[in-house]
Amino acid sequence: MSIEIPEGLTELLQSFTVEVLRNQPADLLEFALQYFTALKESQSNDELHHSALRPAKAVNFIEEAMQIDSENGEDEEEDDDEEEFVAPVINRFNRRASVCAEAFNPDDDEEDKEPRITYPKTDEQRQRLQEACKDILLFKNLDPEQMSQVLDAMFEKLVESGDHIIDQDDDGDNFYVIESGTFDIFVKTDGTERPVGSYNNRGSFGELALMYNTPRAATIIATSVGALWCLDRLTFRRIIVKNNAKKRKMYEAFIETLPLLKSLEASERMKVVDVLSSKVYSDGEQIIAQGDMADCFYIVESGQVRITMKRSRSKKDLENGEVEIAVCSRGQYFGELALVTNKPRAASAYAVGSVKCLVMDVQAFERLLGPCMDIMKRNIANYEEQLVALFGSHVDIEDQNA
Ligand code: CMP
Ligand code: CMP
Repeated sequence: MSIEIPEGLTELLQSFTVEVLRNQPADLLEFALQYFTALKESQSNDELHHSALRPAKAVNFIEEAMQIDSENGEDEEEDDDEEEFVAPVINRFNRRASVCAEAFNPDDDEEDKEPRITYPKTDEQRQRLQEACKDILLFKNLDPEQMSQVLDAMFEKLVESGDHIIDQDDDGDNFYVIESGTFDIFVKTDGTERPVGSYNNRGSFGELALMYNTPRAATIIATSVGALWCLDRLTFRRIIVKNNAKKRKMYEAFIETLPLLKSLEASERMKVVDVLSSKVYSDGEQIIAQGDMADCFYIVESGQVRITMKRSRSKKDLENGEVEIAVCSRGQYFGELALVTNKPRAASAYAVGSVKCLVMDVQAFERLLGPCMDIMKRNIANYEEQLVALFGSHVDIEDQNA
């Protein structure tokens, strides 16, 4: 008996298998349901244009391993207004299927022909805006022209205590930069909403729904009066998402080599790249100061970083001021301890020669690096031994800042 394999079956099953392997869903049937529903919707949209499922969407195992998010695929030729299929991504911590993405090709200069959005600002407003944006990691890798377009497009929003700035599961409209005010973050899982953190007069939020075309992943409520700067979805996608596509290309290989991130799935590792920004330090420059409050985590991209500690009880310390306790080089990380323990920085960090670090903010650290916590905690346990060996007496790293 000869069995005829229907056209497209192999590609269909291969694509599905890749997504299953990539996402490791707990509920395979539910995942399959979401996957094929999204695929069907995408096909229906597609048919409006081409009346057939395009072979370009077929996934081959090798190519697929290189291409994490089709939203950022660089080689596809898309019509500007065409919906593009993005396979459902189900994150281990936030089990939510992504929705069909808007067409977006980072190399497509058509995007640049869209009329630019500009909100006129007084000098005073622009100065406040620049100040609020100067430490926003997502803006760090923008060139001056891109940054200027972002600043032009931002508009101010004043908020009252109790205002819901974002409600979980809504569609994403804006990205927000905090100029002033405090905000609580709540995440609802299995119908129960719980607080997961807060913002205190600095930082930004609302990037996830715009980056990944997903519903809002958290609720953000103002707990004081405040001022926010908002960036509309279109400008955000045209500039920030485009920039992220370049970042992914640049850092994909490096990120794959990091032992710390081994327990993340490939798509989660790319999300880490999306939130990283690169910072350069010159020889001797202080990166972290012992005793400071912490808001960032660092991975060394190039050069070396000296970790030093002040210990008033140490004889060596009295002679030298600070004692070197470790040196981090390419691929190693530092600055996790204060974020994990919620304490001030336990040590200082200085650049040795010219140093490049990849930096991640505390919210992204908490959201994305949960699966890496075991590795971090094993290293933290070693810190104490390291200190005992260096200082010759029992040292509790959590007492370092007393
Ligand atoms: P977005 O999903 O667009 O809207 C809610 C925002 O809350 C989200 O983007 C993040 O910027 C921010 N956020 C902060 N902490 C978390 C968290 N633990 N999980 C999800 N979103 C978070
Ligand atoms: P954090 O306390 O956030 O800032 C200083 C960093 O130095 C700390 O995180 C660790 O990442 C790093 N470090 C390296 N060795 C040690 C050590 N023995 N004790 C404490 N911190 C250390």
